[in-house]
Amino acid sequence: MPTVYITTPIYYVNDRPHIGHCYTTLLADAMGRATRLIRGEHRRPIDGGEVFVLTGTDEHAEKVVTSAAAHSMSPQNWADRNATEFRHAFDFMNCAYDDFIRTTEDRHKSKVVQYIRELQSRGDIYLGDYEGWFDESQEEYLTETAAKEAEFKSPVTGRPLVRRREKNYFFRLSKFQDKLLEHIRANPGFIRPEARKNEVLGRLKTELQDIPISRAVSSDPASQWGILMPDDPEHRIYVWIDALFNYLTVVDTGDRGRFWPATVHFIAKDILWFHAVIWPCLLMALGRDLPGSIYSHAYWVREGRKMSKSLGNFVTIEVLREYADKFTLDGLRWYLLTQGPMSATDADFSHSKFVEVYNAELANGIGNSTSRVGNMIAKYFDGVVPEVDPAGYGDWPAMVKAAVERFEAAIAVCDLPAALNEGVNLVRKVDGYINDTQPFKLAKTVDTDPAAKGKLGSILYNCAEALRAASLLLAPAAPQRMMQLWASWGCVPPPGVPLAELAAFGGSFALRFGGKVSKGEPLFMRADPAEPAPGAPPAG
Ligand code: MSP
Repeated sequence: MPTVYITTPIYYVNDRPHIGHCYTTLLADAMGRATRLIRGEHRRPIDGGEVFVLTGTDEHAEKVVTSAAAHSMSPQNWADRNATEFRHAFDFMNCAYDDFIRTTEDRHKSKVVQYIRELQSRGDIYLGDYEGWFDESQEEYLTETAAKEAEFKSPVTGRPLVRRREKNYFFRLSKFQDKLLEHIRANPGFIRPEARKNEVLGRLKTELQDIPISRAVSSDPASQWGILMPDDPEHRIYVWIDALFNYLTVVDTGDRGRFWPATVHFIAKDILWFHAVIWPCLLMALGRDLPGSIYSHAYWVREGRKMSKSLGNFVTIEVLREYADKFTLDGLRWYLLTQGPMSATDADFSHSKFVEVYNAELANGIGNSTSRVGNMIAKYFDGVVPEVDPAGYGDWPAMVKAAVERFEAAIAVCDLPAALNEGVNLVRKVDGYINDTQPFKLAKTVDTDPAAKGKLGSILYNCAEALRAASLLLAPAAPQRMMQLWASWGCVPPPGVPLAELAAFGGSFALRFGGKVSKGEPLFMRADPAEPAPGAPPAG
């Protein structure tokens, strides 16, 4: 079976992690979990497993140097400290990653130098002149449009911009334009979602220019932070080029080579151009295979407003923690994964929506349904799974099979919300079935009607078994609570069994006749919409 390699952007360490970073890493985690579930793959790559999830931090940005200085720390110490914060954030979110790359690590730096040398020897990097509008007060170039908009003055200090020329190494991006276009057209899933692909295709109508991939090293410490160009200490490799290579450096070693090309790079719309244009062209220049898909989601906004430092309205880790404390971590993961900005449209982190979705799909959904069914089995069958005749399964095996197939098809195109919805729908079917068959009424007749007990058992078995299947489909988003359910129902999935077999209704891994179903703690307590939102942003 082909390997699966899922990545997230590597995040800048000058900022603290927030909902946006957690969201993309959560997508990668849930895709990884879903893929492992489908394949029955429980091993880590290090033990020979074939699914690899990567996240990490991008540490060579100039702003790392400035923010470190502002905190009286060395850039490396500052990076160490913040990289740890990212790790903690992802651990708190229960995101399972197989490796965490930091661009200041030697294993990364040495490979980047190797790739640059390779590009040089292939003739795709050359030394040229770069000319542009330079903001001396900010030590940065502005694009022609940005300079014009700012009336050729620094947008920060108002000082006049100067026309500056410097020697720079360039990558022959222009050379790969046609090949890239061909690839995008031949592989409809290469850039997702569709709207983002069209955006890239639109921009590719104009000719690509070669891009500078180095920055001059000066006496300014910020200009010295990074990886030097091979054999030329006057130039540092531009941070974006250094960063993009991370996806390759991590697996381009030993038996990890089997993971290239990546299956999907999850990113957001802000960094689409780098991933959908520059990165594939670099790979083509290196003669490497291109990733299967670049999935570029939109942004989280908060209560309808863009999150920004000036508004101070970020959904911070602290806010996320409060949500997890109140509504369970799986409740938080569920909301992010099902209501997040997977499409091209931004998604609103809205407290009322959170409570609505949490109640409808979790508390009143799988939570209520499993406790109702568990209670009835406790009450009418002493908590023991009744032995039933498979002839009474009715349409359930076919319905579960179809749900599993749709789940798998959705995961194949990274549509996590649609995949998870298959679990929700199965739960709804069980609720509908309970309403139609009224087992609690039937239970009242068992003393007088000898056939009633068998019928009741059959109904409850169908409910519980369908809920077991549903729980498997919900597990990539809600792994802890589903594990809790499996433990109390005695159906913890054994490792190494693919989903289709695991979920098969009444199959080898079905609820065992005579097995004990204990009631356990409720999975999700109902939330009160009237209670105030955790971590409400300051009014205004
Ligand atoms: N270091 C670069 C990426 C290099 S990848 C080779 C970078 N870092 S970043 O810290 O700014 O992270 C940007 C990413 O964080 C986005 O692409 C997205 O994954 C995530 N998000 C940041 N803010 C976000 C939202 N408001 N909403 C959703 N995700 C967002 O760019």
